Amino acid sequence: MKKVSLKLKHKNIPIYIGNNILVGSTIANHIKHKDVVIITNTKIANLHLKKVKRSLKGFLVKTLILPDGEKYKNINTLNKIHDYLIKNKFNRDLTVIALGGGVIGDLVAFASDTFLRGVNLIQVPTTLLAQVDSSIGGKAGINHQNGKNLIGSFKHPEAIFIDIMFLKTLSNKQYIAGLAEVVKYGAIGNSVFLKWLNKNFKAILLRKTECLVKLISTSVKAKVDVVQQDEKESNIRAHLNFGHTLGHAIESAMKYKGILHGEAVSIGMNFAAAISVEKSTLEIMEYNLLEDTLLKLGLPIHAPSSISDKSIMKHMSFDKKKKNGKNHLVLLESIGKSFICDKLTDSYLSKFVKTFQS
Ligand SMILES: NC(=O)c1ccc[n+]([C@@H]2O[C@H](COP(=O)([O-])OP(=O)(O)OC[C@H]3O[C@@H](n4cnc5c(N)ncnc54)[C@H](O)[C@@H]3O)[C@@H](O)[C@H]2O)c1
Ligand SMILES: [Zn+2]
Repeated sequence: MKKVSLKLKHKNIPIYIGNNILVGSTIANHIKHKDVVIITNTKIANLHLKKVKRSLKGFLVKTLILPDGEKYKNINTLNKIHDYLIKNKFNRDLTVIALGGGVIGDLVAFASDTFLRGVNLIQVPTTLLAQVDSSIGGKAGINHQNGKNLIGSFKHPEAIFIDIMFLKTLSNKQYIAGLAEVVKYGAIGNSVFLKWLNKNFKAILLRKTECLVKLISTSVKAKVDVVQQDEKESNIRAHLNFGHTLGHAIESAMKYKGILHGEAVSIGMNFAAAISVEKSTLEIMEYNLLEDTLLKLGLPIHAPSSISDKSIMKHMSFDKKKKNGKNHLVLLESIGKSFICDKLTDSYLSKFVKTFQS
């Protein structure tokens, strides 16, 4: 088992990474009192709940099982969690375990931050995206009818348990989408890692244990490094948005249907890298390495033809409004070195978006 520490101003968060790490007493060491509630969804409960419960012998463990899906990451489900915690008369000694992907992780973290002004939380992420990204960094929240993640807080857990055993049951589509965020860490900060991903794509797609441990621990360290420097996303954490400006625009133009977040980010990274060749110092060979890695891992690199370039531009302009009317794009100077560019005009981007449709 590997251990990475996220060192924040007021707290150190241990992140455990390995295969079958939930056995034994490590998780028990992070539970302060007897009461534990595991919150998960129907799908994950069927697949994994028994195993997780077995690792909690000696505690009073209750479970709350929610419906599965992003559409339930809302105020009604948050209310349901609060009702459950209040009806069961839990007090501030409670430990809540978020067992699931990013939806459960975000929602349960927010519920645990708001119940009695905050109770103990442990994150047990079960998708690749949650293991390398959403469970780390403390962003908690729910969606609003007017947009994603509009209501939320920063809530860091006591500990994060990243068990690669969960990934065995994850669909290929979800797994590959999670790989987009992994590629992102290589592209913006670690060229050696990107080359390794490119070279080892077969073993990665076969989910070989040693490969997964390396891939996840390198990604976790990359995220930890950024979060440690910029806890509340006031500056360098924004580099993690590489590929996300176009990615978010594609997702919202498609009304979050028919495309996964990671797939949209993959298209967005290829787009930002292509602009970097023209506007920055990214060499075409380096662009080719990124594109080739995305393709080898089975990720898309062009926007679906079902959405128009106009619709994509309209959704990009929502992003611009949030940032003083300028287009902010994370570009690459080289593989492993990113920067933020706010000089790209709408007409320039629009021309580029057109060339990025399949
Ligand atoms: N907090 C952050 O910093 C942050 C960062 C990125 C994304 N997010 C959020 O994360 C969410 C997306 O997370 P996600 O991609 O994990 O989606 P998800 O949580 O919806 O999980 C995807 C699907 O996989 C299923 N699943 C989960 N674990 C499984 C397993 N081990 N085996 C089989 N099936 C499993 C889920 O039930 C679901 O159907 C979004 O709401 C997004 O806003 C948050
Ligand atoms: Zn993302």
